[in-house]
Amino acid sequence: MVLKMDFCTKRENLDIDIVNGSCEWSSPSNIALVKYWGKKEGIQIPANASVSFTLTECQTKTRVSWSKRTKEKDRFSFLFEGSEKKSFHGKIEKFLDNVEQYFPTINQLSLLIESSNSFPHSAGIASSASSMSALALCIVEIEKFLFKDLSQDTFLKRASFFARLGSGSACRSVLGPVVEWGVESDLFASSVESIHSDFDGFCDSILIVKDSEKSVSSRAGHGLMNDHPFSKARYKQAEANIGKMLDSLRNGDFRQFGETLEDEALSLHAMMMTSSPGYLLMAPNTIILIELVREFRKQSNIPIYFTLDAGPNLHLLYPKKFQLEVKNWIEDSCSNYLVGQKVIHDKLGLGSVGGLL
Ligand code: PMV
Repeated sequence: MVLKMDFCTKRENLDIDIVNGSCEWSSPSNIALVKYWGKKEGIQIPANASVSFTLTECQTKTRVSWSKRTKEKDRFSFLFEGSEKKSFHGKIEKFLDNVEQYFPTINQLSLLIESSNSFPHSAGIASSASSMSALALCIVEIEKFLFKDLSQDTFLKRASFFARLGSGSACRSVLGPVVEWGVESDLFASSVESIHSDFDGFCDSILIVKDSEKSVSSRAGHGLMNDHPFSKARYKQAEANIGKMLDSLRNGDFRQFGETLEDEALSLHAMMMTSSPGYLLMAPNTIILIELVREFRKQSNIPIYFTLDAGPNLHLLYPKKFQLEVKNWIEDSCSNYLVGQKVIHDKLGLGSVGGLL
């Protein structure tokens, strides 16, 4: 067996015998501690490095069945939770166009892609990271099946590299528990070594403030960073925050961890507010909850800190040993500010490939 493949090798388009088959991968969502916001030229090349926690409960499971493509057969069909979902077609089409540059033989296949989420469909939890990561893992699995030349290390890097071509933050979902993208490489993500044991099983309770689709997509938000008056300062701040965040994760310094975390969340939203045009993704209840978390932290001495994705829902991060206390506090003090009193209690996980290593 030849193992000369590199993660970014562009293959020749070989006319090979296609044997039908199928494969399945599950991939979790991730929450960025230091945010990727803004792109350089190229396909999802981040303007700054980011670092994230890979989650456990919020997963996308994807099965891809392939057969030889003939004139009558479509490039792919897509079923989400058993039904056709046309709104996702554009994203998959674009993803396959990007993958084709590196793995042109994919065009000799017709794919049936079947996906489902472990988290409620309308929970306001973005699923592009988990779904693109699961799909990318399936595509690399097919490549491995057809060409038999991928070592485990190349498989993982290539899966992260392909996931990035679908959605930037998806490249961080392949691995766990703490993952960086843009420190070692802009092209794929890597696990961060030597995390302090105080972060083992770290909790992320997601407070669902709003479960509707967001008004401005992340793609548009990244684009607005190109002419943003504060973009240079933001990239400088992110670089400094990466250093602080990695130090605090390695030293078990919850205070620095939390201060950097909240700084990142608020800076991300400040970028949105000061874009041209400016927009708000926080809801009134997001702000009420931020105040409540800060008050609870002061009174209880629990190192509980918040972060936000590109949306109104609050992620509360805290050590595992405070799980019960925090759960009770959320029930007593936060429920009234949530849609349907919805909370997802998640935690740090190993990523899609964690169980295999
Ligand atoms: O991967 P995208 O294009 O959906 O962008 C993700 C942007 C944030 O979620 C706000 C930050 C991040 O690093 O995940």
